[in-house]
Amino acid sequence: MQQLGLGIAITGSGSAVPPTALSNEQLSQIVETSDEWIASRTGIRERHVGSPELSLADLAAQAGEAALSMAALPAAEVDLIILATSTADDLFGSAALIQAKLGASRAVAFDLTAACSGFLFGLVTAAQFIRAGTYQNVLLIGADMLSRWTDWSDRRTCILFGDGAGAVLIQANERDCLLGFELRSDGTQNNCLNLAYQPQAKSVLEGVDLGQGNYQFITMNGQEVYRFAVRQVPEVIEKSLYRAKLTIDQIDWLLLHQANQRILDAVSQRLNVPPEKVISNLAHYGNTSAASIPLALDEEVRQGRVKPGDIIASSGFGAGLTWGAAIFRWGR
Ligand code: COA
Repeated sequence: MQQLGLGIAITGSGSAVPPTALSNEQLSQIVETSDEWIASRTGIRERHVGSPELSLADLAAQAGEAALSMAALPAAEVDLIILATSTADDLFGSAALIQAKLGASRAVAFDLTAACSGFLFGLVTAAQFIRAGTYQNVLLIGADMLSRWTDWSDRRTCILFGDGAGAVLIQANERDCLLGFELRSDGTQNNCLNLAYQPQAKSVLEGVDLGQGNYQFITMNGQEVYRFAVRQVPEVIEKSLYRAKLTIDQIDWLLLHQANQRILDAVSQRLNVPPEKVISNLAHYGNTSAASIPLALDEEVRQGRVKPGDIIASSGFGAGLTWGAAIFRWGR
């Protein structure tokens, strides 16, 4: 058996979105808004939304299959599948169903929930398993269908989100291509962005009351979230660069969670990254939560813009609040 080092390499990517696109123009028929307002405040022009028949597991499996195919790794050789999602089909988890759909019979599979930071948190989790020598092939999928939990009568939030899935294959490698990372959480600001369970008292026996309810639509304090992202994201990227012993001018690409073009612009300006190095595809997909980073990465890789050896500074941020950054090299 080949002796592998305890580094990681990201060797394949894939993505999938539901076929139905919903334009700003169409949204303005649902709530009082306009293409001009949405595009100027967010950069978003359209987003994709899943039909009732489409499961998150199906979308995630499509992305996962494409990543395995790019890396030419048979599904049976995957050791671990991590599904980063906040919108699983089943609260017990959807990762095992994806394992079955892919035929990755040897893989252990679990869900990881960290909202829009889910992909970053998943990347670091996968790297820990590989660096510890436990696993060699980890399929990380970020997938979310926030359209299920969006209040389509709330113009402050329904303009932002879209559905999608993105995946990467992370493999053991002699050279470690995860060069630095930093993860953070701050629960004191938890109420800024929620998809919360609301219990209703149900008495099953005298003296035994349970909280049986439902999840509520997404609520958000947009200005607070905006301020948080613009303040915290540059800091974690700088910390990750310091750990990687790199300076910002040594990175080829800045790949931020695709929440809002104004956030991308403000963060890149603070870091002094020129616009041509900033990856942005949110005009077509909106904020796809855990999917946004691997979805954007996959597009750039397939278009030949991101090339093997390129160094990418990436950051995810969102509900929790959670945020984090990672500096990684694409390919082996
Ligand atoms: N169309 C038209 N008008 C809208 C609107 C819409 N879709 N949404 C809000 N407005 C109105 C508001 O009602 C308000 O009107 P008022 O002054 O008469 O009350 C006005 O526009 C300004 O609203 P405000 O909420 O202050 O807008 P904003 O400049 O903060 O922009 C966001 C709103 C959501 C675009 C912005 O706060 C943002 O991008 N935040 C970050 C959100 C995010 O990325 N979340 C996910 C992170 S993972």
